[in-house]
Amino acid sequence: MMPTPSYLDRRDQLETYFDRTAVDAWARLTTDAPVGRIRATVREGRNEMRTTMAGWLPEDLRGRRILDAGCGTGALAAELASRGAHVVAVDLSEKLVSLARERYGSRIGDGHLDFVVGDMLHARLETFDHVVAMDSLIHYDASDIVKALALISGRVKHSIVFTFIPRTPILAAMHAVGRFFPKSDRSPSLRPLGETHLRQLIAADPALARWQLGRTRCIARGFYTSQALELSAS
Ligand SMILES: C[S@@+](CC[C@H](N)C(=O)[O-])C[C@H]1O[C@@H](n2cnc3c(N)ncnc32)[C@H](O)[C@@H]1O
Repeated sequence: MMPTPSYLDRRDQLETYFDRTAVDAWARLTTDAPVGRIRATVREGRNEMRTTMAGWLPEDLRGRRILDAGCGTGALAAELASRGAHVVAVDLSEKLVSLARERYGSRIGDGHLDFVVGDMLHARLETFDHVVAMDSLIHYDASDIVKALALISGRVKHSIVFTFIPRTPILAAMHAVGRFFPKSDRSPSLRPLGETHLRQLIAADPALARWQLGRTRCIARGFYTSQALELSAS
């Protein structure tokens, strides 16, 4: 099973966006440096999302291998490594990965961090106990998200925790999605998904037959809305 042309197309746009246009904005957003009111809500929502996703993994992660798929500047990877995990953190953006390396290095307590530039679907990434993908699949079409999950799932033992943008009436009305940043550096459009549709696609994919849908939580704070969903191996 190969990534589709629409996945590859989107991936290239995202690489350009996160490696050029948005690097400075992401670098700042992912620190405590002052930001405007709108971005402050995004930061608050993202912090809560990171805590939620990290909280769905076992507290003691010593000896566990985790893939952070689309790690950005590495905060979630570092949090999991601080609990003892060996985290392989991969991202398309060379600049964000360099920044993550600068910020966190390769060891935290008993944990290890291995930052890699590339596509999360790359097979050389080997096998993992858990995969986290925080807001890194949100720009892809529903069918490409499910294909990506199916491809990744073949290399995962226990669970995959990822986020999607839920299609809600409030979001539709606000037209707020994708407007975290000024027009000049606005991200490639997000792809809001109906949760029921996403669940149906996952349930219908034969490659995901051994996976059960688990916990889900939508986090909405001002201009940030995203929903975490857990898939567990049966
Ligand atoms: C919205 S950012 C989130 C970053 C990080 N997970 C966080 O929450 O701070 C999305 C990230 O996913 C990365 N990304 C998107 N598609 C990817 C792919 N196919 N493989 C690896 N990284 C990808 C982007 O380069 C970007 O850094």
